[in-house]
Amino acid sequence: MESMRRCEPSGTDSQRIAVTRVNIAGMESAPRYRQMTAADLDAVIAIENAIYPYPWTRGNFRDSLAAGYQCWMVECGGGAVGYTVAMVAAGEAFLLNLSVARTWQRRGLGRELLDFVLKLARNHGAERILLEVRPSNRAAIALYSSAGFTEIAVRRGYYPAGSGREDAIVLQLDLDEK
Ligand SMILES: CC(C)(COP(=O)(O)OP(=O)(O)OC[C@H]1O[C@@H](n2cnc3c(N)ncnc32)[C@H](O)[C@@H]1OP(=O)(O)O)[C@@H](O)C(=O)NCCC(=O)NCCS
Repeated sequence: MESMRRCEPSGTDSQRIAVTRVNIAGMESAPRYRQMTAADLDAVIAIENAIYPYPWTRGNFRDSLAAGYQCWMVECGGGAVGYTVAMVAAGEAFLLNLSVARTWQRRGLGRELLDFVLKLARNHGAERILLEVRPSNRAAIALYSSAGFTEIAVRRGYYPAGSGREDAIVLQLDLDEK
């Protein structure tokens, strides 16, 4: 059963973001959201390498932090269970990374983390949010579709893949509609 609770992110972002929470199975306390720092990168890279066939590098995360992108950790019991990276500028947000550690997947955390990002983007003035996803990533596409994202373009041969290249589907959600 869904309930609204307050999530109070720490760090420089003082805005409160109400996350629509479900009970996350196996989680003894509510997930905690805080801004990512360079000290998190070992934990982030360990998750990243475990869940993506073509993971981001440490340099990708360092660059995102240096650029001032929205980089957030989700923790439970002091340990990292997920993270997200988004860029918000000129009324648009780009969701660059949304990840849940494998052992924590399929418990509602990805949906909660996406809800967090959408509210964060809105709070920073974004009117729409875009992302790119591999057509083979059925889990992510199902998550984004259920949140209302729709396909607006396909970038041919955008990603590296075992058999050569894979397209990227560009998905968009208007943030003032929800
Ligand atoms: C995509 C991802 C973030 C989803 O996180 P999650 O915590 O497992 O997702 P949730 O438990 O909140 O599930 C939300 C919805 O996503 C979809 N979904 C999640 N995992 C799925 C799977 N293995 N197969 C099909 N649909 C799936 C379902 O629609 C699900 O809703 P439902 O439980 O009502 O069926 C997670 O699988 C992940 O980190 N994957 C690897 C990284 C990645 O691909 N990130 C996205 C890059 S664009």
